[in-house]
Amino acid sequence: MPDQQKYTNKLSGKNILIIGGTSGIGFAVAEASLEFGAHITLASSRPSRLSHALSRLQTAYPSASSRISTHAVDLANEKTLEANLTALLDTVTHHAAPAHKLDHIVYTAGDTLPHQSLAATDFDVAKQGGVVRFFGPLLLGKHAPRYMNAGPASSVVLTMGVAAEKPIVGTSGFAVVGGLQMLTRNLALENAPVRCNLVSPGAVETELWEDFPTEAQEAMRVACGRLPTGGVGRVEDVAEAYLYAMRDEFLTGTMISTNGGALLMG
Ligand SMILES: NC(=O)c1ccc[n+]([C@@H]2O[C@H](COP(=O)([O-])OP(=O)(O)OC[C@H]3O[C@@H](n4cnc5c(N)ncnc54)[C@H](OP(=O)(O)O)[C@@H]3O)[C@@H](O)[C@H]2O)c1
Repeated sequence: MPDQQKYTNKLSGKNILIIGGTSGIGFAVAEASLEFGAHITLASSRPSRLSHALSRLQTAYPSASSRISTHAVDLANEKTLEANLTALLDTVTHHAAPAHKLDHIVYTAGDTLPHQSLAATDFDVAKQGGVVRFFGPLLLGKHAPRYMNAGPASSVVLTMGVAAEKPIVGTSGFAVVGGLQMLTRNLALENAPVRCNLVSPGAVETELWEDFPTEAQEAMRVACGRLPTGGVGRVEDVAEAYLYAMRDEFLTGTMISTNGGALLMG
């Protein structure tokens, strides 16, 4: 008799949409989801990134090629945000056809951050700072349930960040992102039994960092060297938080912080 596989098979055959899955943390979630036997769809705004991510995954998981799809979606424009999100969900699920409904949606999309002084932050900057990271998840929460299999086996996993848990000078321009904690709890109630959870990563070196000046990247590496875990976070570790949030059917309305102990530091 083969051994039972009660735990390893929890994501096998599941349909997972990863919005922001073409690089960084989302890409690692895509890799892990494939390793656990899921069917994945990656969504992000740049066709070049979609094709690069697809080819990396096909190379790393040649036997899983038929389980990978990609779709372009731009979530940075407030005027088209809701329509683009629903068009994505319609396309991926063949207009909510029962056989194509989603089991999990992981949202890791994030554009360039408006790191600047409070004095240089105006209303438009602050509003734009929330379009992809906060208003996208809010509108996703509004529409997602009708595209998802009903029940606690299904979940939405959103992404915040340590800057919303511990004040960092220069981040007020995207403080709206801190609202994800309230949104996650509300969605867990309003969309039950579909679950909703939030992952809050600390500093993880990804493509996102390429937008930061070299000195700022180096300063972050040095600061991370002082963390209890002794260095910058790795996507393959942070991805575990998303896997756990998807796999624990008893988990909803919570935040998982994975930050190397950053909140313990002065
Ligand atoms: N890395 C860190 O140190 C860190 C720390 C705390 C929190 N976080 C948060 O974690 C999330 C993921 O970060 P990451 O480091 O993995 O970033 P990343 O490597 O830059 O990945 C961001 C993803 O979002 C997509 N994206 C960007 N703009 C988009 C748009 N307008 N519409 C749709 N998709 C868009 C990107 O693809 P396209 O460019 O093709 O659109 C990419 O797939 C972000 O919300 C970030 O703020 C990261």
